[in-house]
Parts: sequence; C-alpha cells; structure tokens
Amino acid sequence: MSGKLLLATSNEHKKKELKAILRYEGVEILTLEDIGKNLPPVIEDGESFAENAAKKARLTAAASGCVCLADDSGLQVEALKGQPGVYSARFAGEKANDEENNAKLLTMIQYFRGEQRKAEFVCVIAVSDPDGMVKTVRGVCPGHINDKPLGKNGFGYDPLFIPQGYSRTFAQLSETEKNVISHRAKALKEVYYLLKEFNLVKR
Ligand code: IMP
Repeated sequence: MSGKLLLATSNEHKKKELKAILRYEGVEILTLEDIGKNLPPVIEDGESFAENAAKKARLTAAASGCVCLADDSGLQVEALKGQPGVYSARFAGEKANDEENNAKLLTMIQYFRGEQRKAEFVCVIAVSDPDGMVKTVRGVCPGHINDKPLGKNGFGYDPLFIPQGYSRTFAQLSETEKNVISHRAKALKEVYYLLKEFNLVKR
C-alpha cells in the first residue's frame, strides 16, 4: 500500500528540510500549495511542542482530508530554564524576525559562560489522519550557544547554535551535514515507523 503525505507547514525552511529527509518508496510528499486549498491558520497555543505539533497535524488533516505531518520545534537554553521553548518563533515579539530573536537571546545570556550556555534543539513531529488518529515522535540535538552569530545557512537560531562535538554553528554547516544530526532529522528517523501505522509504507 502507498499514499500521500501532506506537510502541514508554510515555513519554507522546514519544508525544504522535511522534503530532503522524507524519501520513502511509494509515498508522495505534498505541500499546502500542491493541494491548492486555503486552510485556516492553526493557532499554536499549546504549552509543549507535542501539543502544538499534534494540533497542527490534526486540524490540517481534518480540513484537507489527507494524512498530515506537522513539526513543532524550538530551542531550549539551560541558563534560561528552557526558554525560548515553544515561544522560539516569537521570542522577541509576535512579529519578530530571526535577527531580533537571536539578538534577544544573546542579550539574555551575555553574562553566562561555559556549561551555562548549554542548549538543545527539540523537534516533535506529529502525524494525523483525517479521522483524528494522531501519533508523535521527538528528536533532540544537544549543543551550546555561541557568543555571536556565525554562518549564513539555515534559519532561526542556526547562526548561534553549535551542535555537540562540532566547532561550527548550524548555519556554518552544509544542509547535508545539518540534516544528518539535527533534531528534525532525528525525529524524522522515527517517522518511518509512524507511517507504517498509518498504512502509508509497506509493513
Ligand atoms: P514553530 O514554527 O512554532 O515550530 O517555530 C519554530 C521556531 O523555532 C523557528 O521559527 C525557529 O526560530 C526555531 N527553530 C526550529 N527549528 C530550528 C532549526 O532547525 N534551526 C533554527 N531554528 C529553529
């Protein structure tokens, strides 16, 4: 059996990373543009990545009639007790851009050194069918926050985040390098097993 999987995101960077990793025989990956429907925006008001990812996947699956995959992700900084967390996209304000979010983070941790700059990227991926069955998986990438932004690749907090075992930020790694070790890549490795449960890939 094979089928279609709709990506419930309008974030171009996420879409690109998801499409680069999600390559399963017999599974066609669709974007919201592909299905040509104007779906209502989902308000991300959950208190956890899992709650937000499940809500996005469930509502988009119900509105589109397709099996949907949604990602909710963000950065958790140890010295800030897990902030920005679920507020990563809007850390410096509702309409803040990546530079403003990064600048706020750097200001907040300017007096922290060494171990205190430990951080992790977290990604929860939810898959839902139109009947409301939802399953989630989680991926974590540990690392630390650099004292200044470096690199031009990726998005979000990539210029500030140095993954464990590396001396370059995510934004200094190539797409291929990031896609092997990232939180999103780790969660996506588990997605294959979820797709089996939704009968999208062969058992
Ligand atoms: P979401 O759309 O609510 O999941 O927002 C995720 C936010 O977390 C993004 O806007 C980024 O600020 C941050 N984020 C998530 N994944 C990454 C990543 O791979 N690199 C850099 N920032 C990320």
